[in-house]
Amino acid sequence: MGPGLEKDKTTPKGGSKCSTLSIFFLSLNIFCLIVPVRGFALRYCRISDNTAICINNKLRQVPLDIPSTVNIFDLSVNKIVKIQASDFKNLTVLKQLDLNRNNISQIDTGAFSTLISLKKLNLNNNKLRRLGENVFDGLSRLVELRLKRNGIEEVAATSFKSMTSLTFLDISNNKLHSITKVHLILQHLPHLRELYIYDTNLPTFQSWQLTNSSLALRYLDVSLNPLKLFQITADVFPNLTWFNIGGSRGKQNMIWDVRNKTFLSRLSSLDISGLRMTPGDMKTLLETVNSSLTSLKMYAMKYKIHTLIKISCTIPTMSTLKLQSNGLKSIPSDMFASCVNVTKLDLAGNKLVNIDENAFTFMRSLRILNLNRNKLTSVPAAIQNRPTLDELDLSKNNISELRRHDFANQTLLRKLSLYNNIIPVLPQDVFRDLNRLQTLKLQTSQITKLNGAFKKYLPNLKRLHLNGNKLSGIKPGEFKGLRSLENLSLHDNEIKTLVKESFTGLTNLTEILLQSNLLTKEELKTGAFNALINLRRLDLSSNHIIYKDNSLLPHPPFSKLSHLEELNVPSQRRRARARLPQNFLEGLGNLLLFRIRTSQLVELHTGMFKHTPRLQTLDVSSNDLRYLDSKLFAPLQNLSALYMSRASLQSLDFLIDAKLTKLEFLQVRKNQYSVVRHEVIKALPALLYLDLQGNAFTCDCSNIWFIPWLKNDTQTQVYDAYNFLCNYPPVMRGKKLLDFDFNSFCTVDVDFICFVTTTCTILCSMVATFTYHFMRWQLVYAYYLFLAWLYDTKNKNMQAENQYDAFISYNVHDEPWVIGDLLPKLENEQGWKLCLHHRDFEPGKPIIDNITDAIYGSRKTICVISRRYLESEWCSREIQAASFRLFDEQKDVLILVFLEEIPGYLMSPYYRMRKLLKRQSYLSWPRAGEHSELFWEKLRQALKTGQDLDEDRFHLSMLERP
Ligand SMILES: *[C@@H]1O[C@H](CO)[C@@H](O)[C@H](O)[C@H]1NC(C)=O
Ligand SMILES: *[C@@H]1O[C@H](CO)[C@@H](O)[C@H](O)[C@H]1NC(C)=O
Ligand SMILES: *[C@@H]1O[C@H](CO)[C@@H](O)[C@H](O)[C@H]1NC(C)=O
Ligand SMILES: *[C@@H]1O[C@H](CO)[C@@H](O)[C@H](O)[C@H]1NC(C)=O
Repeated sequence: MGPGLEKDKTTPKGGSKCSTLSIFFLSLNIFCLIVPVRGFALRYCRISDNTAICINNKLRQVPLDIPSTVNIFDLSVNKIVKIQASDFKNLTVLKQLDLNRNNISQIDTGAFSTLISLKKLNLNNNKLRRLGENVFDGLSRLVELRLKRNGIEEVAATSFKSMTSLTFLDISNNKLHSITKVHLILQHLPHLRELYIYDTNLPTFQSWQLTNSSLALRYLDVSLNPLKLFQITADVFPNLTWFNIGGSRGKQNMIWDVRNKTFLSRLSSLDISGLRMTPGDMKTLLETVNSSLTSLKMYAMKYKIHTLIKISCTIPTMSTLKLQSNGLKSIPSDMFASCVNVTKLDLAGNKLVNIDENAFTFMRSLRILNLNRNKLTSVPAAIQNRPTLDELDLSKNNISELRRHDFANQTLLRKLSLYNNIIPVLPQDVFRDLNRLQTLKLQTSQITKLNGAFKKYLPNLKRLHLNGNKLSGIKPGEFKGLRSLENLSLHDNEIKTLVKESFTGLTNLTEILLQSNLLTKEELKTGAFNALINLRRLDLSSNHIIYKDNSLLPHPPFSKLSHLEELNVPSQRRRARARLPQNFLEGLGNLLLFRIRTSQLVELHTGMFKHTPRLQTLDVSSNDLRYLDSKLFAPLQNLSALYMSRASLQSLDFLIDAKLTKLEFLQVRKNQYSVVRHEVIKALPALLYLDLQGNAFTCDCSNIWFIPWLKNDTQTQVYDAYNFLCNYPPVMRGKKLLDFDFNSFCTVDVDFICFVTTTCTILCSMVATFTYHFMRWQLVYAYYLFLAWLYDTKNKNMQAENQYDAFISYNVHDEPWVIGDLLPKLENEQGWKLCLHHRDFEPGKPIIDNITDAIYGSRKTICVISRRYLESEWCSREIQAASFRLFDEQKDVLILVFLEEIPGYLMSPYYRMRKLLKRQSYLSWPRAGEHSELFWEKLRQALKTGQDLDEDRFHLSMLERP
């Protein structure tokens, strides 16, 4: 696992603050320090089957977020300039690394040293001018190294030191200039079997400069070098079987100096294409391989090819002769007279027009003949005299007509290629003798009529390519003779008519390709496919099959195809609002893959898939589906891959109830949903790969689960997540989803919580302690003052009549006095309407509201003050609220009645109220003593005041409190 980019981002930074602030919250801090698990959305790559694929991404550096479990890492086609020492840290199980086509000019020492399992390394097409000391250190398991096309000029003596397992090295297309540099490489590679050093500007090849001991090499390619001298002075290549020295770049002849004819005695495959040598040296060369050579390649020879053919065909072991691009226009009858042992002759890419009738007569063993890319206008008669052929390639010629006898007596022919000719009509019995033919390639040859050519013959044909022709229909029984046929390609024709018997006889057919024709739904009605009882794959895409509704078809088109596994149904070219008949798939009980892309479908009937319970892959991309019913998926319990890109989907919520418990792959690119609910993912427990590319997301808290899931989920890989864009809210438009800071917008970061909790708790306890000590009462008072003020503001404009004359505020312990003395006196005798909490408070209303309502709903508030009263919480609230009203309205609303003597120190907390008391009147019940009538009278007067605002204030001064 490489050091993660996200990891750096999400590692908590507040941890230290937390712990220094409070040891109490240390336990909380432990949660802050949890290191996030590596996310499964890679920035630039995707993972598939343990392969990290980062191809063609314009990367300038090796991405570091690759999971340490990958086996293959493909970084080809990027812009990486430098390989740094830490780039592949942790990739200890990596087996294959592909850096092909980058701009790498520098590799740090030890950069590959951690890749202890690496077997294959591709550095082709980079800019490594120089291979430094120990550059490949640590690659002791490396088997294959590719360094082609780098411009390498310098190789350090220790560059290849540790690569003791290497068996394959391609360092071609470089500028080594000297074989001594190859020596620096080879000295460390005892097991090398294949060495490619073509086109490396080597002026000479002298074995003593390379080595003096024998090498394990089996394949050696020194072609395309401007070699003046090829010299072998000792038996250094005892195992060499494949040797390419062709394509000389020099203008002068190369000197061939192999001292001993046994030195290359195992060589079986030799390529001397384009090599310039004197006839004498050429002869020596061929003599050297006289006893072992089986295959000789002589493309584009500058030397007289006829002579070379004659000499080389005297090598008794030679069976393959490759003579491409020699500009041959004709083949005279004696050209291959000596080639009696040749079984494979390749004459492709010449200019052959005439081939003598007897040209191949002497080649009694000829089995494979390649005449591809010549200028033949008919099948040469020479073929007919050679009825031993196994394979014949006549494609890409100018053959305009096939004649009845062209393939007569070719009873052994197994493979015939005739594609890219101009053969409008096939003669009826042209293939009559081809009883063994298995493969017939007749594509792109402008065929318009099959003419019954397949009605009776070709009983063993397995593969028939007729694609890219101009067939317009398949007549009844046209393929009746092809009882072994397995694959039939008819795509890219102009087929518009099929009949019931079109495919009769093709009982062994497993694949038929009919895409890009002109078929309509009428052709599906014919029952043409009913004959194909073994069909596994049917491709009907890009035809003109359009259904306007989903009503039941009387004859479902594929009802007999019970073995069908893959069905591709048309992409319809015309604009339409299409549907599919609900029983379209009837009979396809074994269907595994159904593709109905680009079909202008606006709907899928919910019963559509009840016929295909085994379906594993469904592709409904590029339609106009918008909403899907989760019921549609109910029968698809085996679905493992679902493609719904560009389907105008407004939401993925239908997946919540679809119960696709086996779904592993979901591709929903370029739709119109902007929120993916977490429930959708939760409903897909097997999901491994999710592709949401090209959607515009809502970057607000509705997608809040997404980023943590994306980063922490180890099962599901989200393709291209780092490029998801926001579309909403407008300020976020165009920004990247993963850059959106959900943390600060939607949640409080755990860190931050730690910090804030700690700080707040400490501050609060400090403040609380302080306050409790110095100003607790003021605080409480301020609180009630505030509540009263709130009420007051709320009710400022309410000029409602007072409901009561007085609200009696008292403690339950004083209830006997209130009920027994106060109530009868004031209500019954004096006629006041009183408000008592046990009687008049509205049940269910918050008590504080009841109090304030009572106080403001009454003209006066009588506080019955006792020790208990002062201790009681609610009573103090009442007194606070009432005193606020007094303070606020400048009304004399408060009447204080002392039920008992209260020492001054008990009053002290209400010191502010005490100040008010100084200018307020109050009554004392104990002091009233015997004169209770006076007490009640004073109370009556106190209650009376304020009824008329103009009335003078009535000041009672029975007792002045200190
Ligand atoms: C092979 O031997 C020759 C002469 O003995 C010597 O000049 C040459 O350097 C040797 N080559 C290598 C690669 O050691
Ligand atoms: C190869 O050897 C055979 C004899 O076995 C001889 O007739 C023939 O000329 C030789 N060919 C070459 C190219 O040396
Ligand atoms: C095919 O072979 C038969 C007998 O072997 C022969 O009579 C006939 O002429 C041959 N046909 C061609 C076209 O060579
Ligand atoms: C058809 O296929 C089956 C199974 O592959 C095979 O056994 C049979 O021989 C084939 N029939 C023909 C006529 O080739």
